[in-house]
Amino acid sequence: MAVDFETSGSAAILRLNRPPVNAIAADLRQQLQAHLRAALADPKIERIILTGSEKIFAAGADAAEFDAPPIEPHLPDLVAEIEQSSKPVIAAIYGAALGGGLELALACRWRIAAPNARLGLPEVILGVVPGAGATQRLPRLIGIGPALQMVTTGKPLAPQKALSIGLIDAVEADPLAAALAQDLATLLARPLLAEAPNPPADKQAGIEARQSAARKMRGQDAPQRAADLIEMTSDTSFADGIKAEREAFLSLRQSPQCRALRHIFFAERAARTPGWLKKATQPASLQKTAVIGGGTMGAAIAWALDQAGLEVCVVEMDESAAERASSNLARLAAAGLKRGLLSQEAHDSALTRIIVQASFENLAETDIVIEAVFEDMAVKKELFAKLETAAPSAVLASNTSYLDIDEMASALADPSRLLGLHFFSPAHIMKLLEVVRASQTSDLALRAGFDLAEKLRKTPVITGVCDGFIGNRINFRMRESADILLLSGSIPTEIDEAMRAFGYAMGPYETQDMSGLDISWATRKRKAATRDPNRPYVKIADRMCESGRLGRKTGTGWYRYDMGGQMEDPMVEDLILEESRLAGVERRVIPEAEIQETLLLAMINEAAHILGEGMAASGADIDLVMVHGFGFPRWRGGLAWHADQIGAKSIHASLKKLAADEPVLWEIAPLITELAASGGSFASWTKSPS
Ligand code: COA
Repeated sequence: MAVDFETSGSAAILRLNRPPVNAIAADLRQQLQAHLRAALADPKIERIILTGSEKIFAAGADAAEFDAPPIEPHLPDLVAEIEQSSKPVIAAIYGAALGGGLELALACRWRIAAPNARLGLPEVILGVVPGAGATQRLPRLIGIGPALQMVTTGKPLAPQKALSIGLIDAVEADPLAAALAQDLATLLARPLLAEAPNPPADKQAGIEARQSAARKMRGQDAPQRAADLIEMTSDTSFADGIKAEREAFLSLRQSPQCRALRHIFFAERAARTPGWLKKATQPASLQKTAVIGGGTMGAAIAWALDQAGLEVCVVEMDESAAERASSNLARLAAAGLKRGLLSQEAHDSALTRIIVQASFENLAETDIVIEAVFEDMAVKKELFAKLETAAPSAVLASNTSYLDIDEMASALADPSRLLGLHFFSPAHIMKLLEVVRASQTSDLALRAGFDLAEKLRKTPVITGVCDGFIGNRINFRMRESADILLLSGSIPTEIDEAMRAFGYAMGPYETQDMSGLDISWATRKRKAATRDPNRPYVKIADRMCESGRLGRKTGTGWYRYDMGGQMEDPMVEDLILEESRLAGVERRVIPEAEIQETLLLAMINEAAHILGEGMAASGADIDLVMVHGFGFPRWRGGLAWHADQIGAKSIHASLKKLAADEPVLWEIAPLITELAASGGSFASWTKSPS
């Protein structure tokens, strides 16, 4: 049963019971309505209590139902029936009351939450607006300003905050007991939100909410539509507001943005420890961790581990490096304090907790070691050989971005202990974790990687061993094609603007300036000897680096930053023009659409190579990498999802045109040819066993 019916004296308790999250699917709505009606018809019942499990009230509408036609009873009608019921209904909320779950609670006369409750309207994160009255009831309950804040950000509130703004009536350790004890007369005297007066307008709050949503949820329609609906409440009747809300909900739920956002939501959940791995292994023990190297990356990894509640030891090669590692950690702690993420006490205790040492002593009990030393194969091999004995029972992980983990593993007597855990900078913030499965990585080591991702609340994506793994490999091709556009007629601003117009928060050149041009320069130098001589190579970035233009940190890069803000630099344009001249290229005007198309085709083609080679397991994994590691707009569903919206046939035709001029650069991935011929999609593609 999706809803259980119990009685306690003169109270009927309707308990939502549809694991795992009490999603409000058709069966739950039907049973809730039937039980409600039964309770209303029973003369012995005086009050009705709506509750869930100890962990969850309800996670909202069933997002898996969005593609199907709506099934009766519709949630807005059920919510109205609860609100209008002749006997008072009380919400006793444990755990999350989100979306439609909170809308059910808003229809109740009284809302009591447990300390573990989280109350929110996250619909905009899935590309829709609340569809069961929240945009109309909430402003009438808490005012337009706070309602805008809640609905346009989608962020849930802790119970004390919810109490302080009047969203709930009480916080109690045992909401069910409190609901049974609540005085009936008080409940009956409570006016219904549907009949409450219009709340006063708040133009300023509307402007701020829209601006903030435009910044933080760039390009997304739902937050702006939600703001419209909430603002209406100041001068529109409840009935008209509900009608407008329903229309907006139904049209948005069919929209490409909503479909894309739902795809990412479900892909994120599917990315956790795969079922086969769970079956094959026990959960990894991950209490004691060590990070080798306390530079920017190593320190941020160590910080993330500490903040996830794990014991951390940072190992450096000598005392002065250990001191630098300690100051890197202190900087991270200070930043957390400044941003209000840490109390002074938490800040101080973290810094005393994390051990920083200049030796390999005391690692014997370590469960997992992550190396984050500089990218040098010989150094890493030597290190792992040492670690094999220093940390005899630990899973060993490399944070390399490019190096061959199979080769690294060859330094070990037991290569099955090694895997790659590729973090993205800043490692304590970025959600993506590429879990690199080398040819001999054991299931046990792989499980440790997934379990660690879960502890760190990161999105793990499994990848095979190849140069750049999934994300950097795709990004490299994007940057290569952008540089070719520079040579052919574009300037960095045009390319950055084009990609921002597509939905990126920053264009590729701004991003390079932000992260520094030197790392990829070093990679290019390292690969120079093995580069395909037939592949066009643009030297502009190398020349920038040679002249000390390494990005923001040196005050100049693709832009200049030494005169306040980011400014175009005529010297960069001169350099680009000179390179075009030297290459004998006649520059032309390249329209925005062509810039977007070229960069996307380069990425899609590389993604298809990666999939075809079995380096990534699915299009959804490619999507997670690009969204969580490389700023690909979430509302476009990720790269492979976007490719499916274009269609393999059309992609193939475009690539063919490009390949006619530059066959090496645009060598079409066999998977694209296959999908174009079969009419298939990235989403439905799975590699047939070879
Ligand atoms: N509709 C359909 N399925 C949902 C769902 C929803 N609204 N919310 C969660 N699920 C599913 C998940 O896909 C997952 O399925 P799986 O086990 O097959 O992978 C399962 O329920 C558990 O969810 P998960 O997110 O892994 O659990 P959690 O304990 O980490 O988090 C919530 C629980 C409720 C906080 C979280 O699931 C959530 O935020 N859900 C979305 C809420 C929402 O956006 N509601 C508005 C819908 S319009």
